[in-house]
Amino acid sequence: MHLVSIDDLSVSDIEGLFQLSDGFLEVSARPIKKVPTLRGRTQVNMFFEPSTRTQASFELAGKRLSADVINIKGSSSAVAKGESLKDTVLTLESYRPDIIVIRHAQVGAARLATHFTRASVINAGDGTGEHPTQCLLDLYSLRRVYGALHGLKVAIVGDVLNSRVARSNVFGFRKMGIEVRLVGPPTLMPPGIEQWGVPTYFDVAALEEVDVIYLLRMQLERVQGRLPAVPSLREYSRVWGLDPYRLRAGQRVMHPGPINRGVEMSGDLADAEQSLILHQVESGLALRMAILYQALAPQLEDEAA
Ligand code: NCD
Repeated sequence: MHLVSIDDLSVSDIEGLFQLSDGFLEVSARPIKKVPTLRGRTQVNMFFEPSTRTQASFELAGKRLSADVINIKGSSSAVAKGESLKDTVLTLESYRPDIIVIRHAQVGAARLATHFTRASVINAGDGTGEHPTQCLLDLYSLRRVYGALHGLKVAIVGDVLNSRVARSNVFGFRKMGIEVRLVGPPTLMPPGIEQWGVPTYFDVAALEEVDVIYLLRMQLERVQGRLPAVPSLREYSRVWGLDPYRLRAGQRVMHPGPINRGVEMSGDLADAEQSLILHQVESGLALRMAILYQALAPQLEDEAA
């Protein structure tokens, strides 16, 4: 089973992942944080774009499930010598991996990889395309904090234009009954935003009534060659940057990381109790264990029968 887009999953698939994650959260609280579930299976992590959280949590998730995990990094692999994605995947396919986790700068890279391997492919971010496991871990974090997701109001704020997280989260959050709105300067909204089916606001006042403010990082690395969509980071921060005093009582803040302290949020907001950022990271490990398990569940169940 592949996980390329958040649309690959139904509401009950997602609820099933939450249940599995609850169990894996409990495994991570034990002194010996390991179960034999994926013993003898091979997981290849292919990261052709920088990553801290996603890479570390997929590696640790595989290890806690007892899989053999190897990591291929863009800058130190033959990709840096010009090897194509196809050839890299075909080469690794010779080792008969069971799972390939892939992050790549090109939209559609994970989908492409599914054509060259029998392994389950998990999209860990394809350019500005999608980041389904981020969406799932955010949903799981929200479910842990609020209990129910239905009816929750979330604003996704900032650089929607360049954000794969925004794409996956809008679709995944709506699927689970969350009321989503996009908020930010018009220059950071992608063309065709009307078709996303969620309201868009160009004013910070639109943050007032939501339960959760989900801040996005300004993705300057994706701007190459184009004019930046905001005059300067300082200007952006003055209008859109949040600090604890701009939050209403009871509001919480999320961010996929890495945060730019002093740009989309102040350092003291990142460290404040309203911030769910580290809760998201913790949820991410358990949720990614659930995804790895789920990816191989049909085989595991066949073999057990
Ligand atoms: C995000 C990503 O890579 O898309 N980070 C992450 O996976 N935690 C968001 C970002 O880079 O801003």
